[in-house]
Amino acid sequence: AYVVTENCIKCKYTDCVDVCPVDCFREGPNFLVIDPDECIDCTLCVAECPVEAIYAEDDVPDEQTHFISLNAELSKEWRPIIEKKDALPDADDWASVKDKLDQLQR
Ligand code: SF4
Ligand code: F3S
Repeated sequence: AYVVTENCIKCKYTDCVDVCPVDCFREGPNFLVIDPDECIDCTLCVAECPVEAIYAEDDVPDEQTHFISLNAELSKEWRPIIEKKDALPDADDWASVKDKLDQLQR
């Protein structure tokens, strides 16, 4: 499955959502995740994300591998998002910030 990683936090541009053929994105307050049981590895979402937050599970950078289990966990709690919507208000300010995991809202 594909995995949403740290760069998405507090940005949530949602361009990824529009291209997913199986609607497997799930939405939290300031982050999206992919349901690993639904993702068909089509790769389409990767190029859509302006902050390059999406990786194939095998390609997630070493320092972000905890996002694999986080996507699996949160995808069972959060609701589907199937259409693009406005990014979060301060998305552009947060786009280049590193180590944002402590900002994640559940
Ligand atoms: Fe959806 Fe394809 Fe991205 Fe998986 S890889 S989340 S199926 S767009
Ligand atoms: Fe997040 Fe990128 Fe999608 S910022 S909402 S993974 S387009």
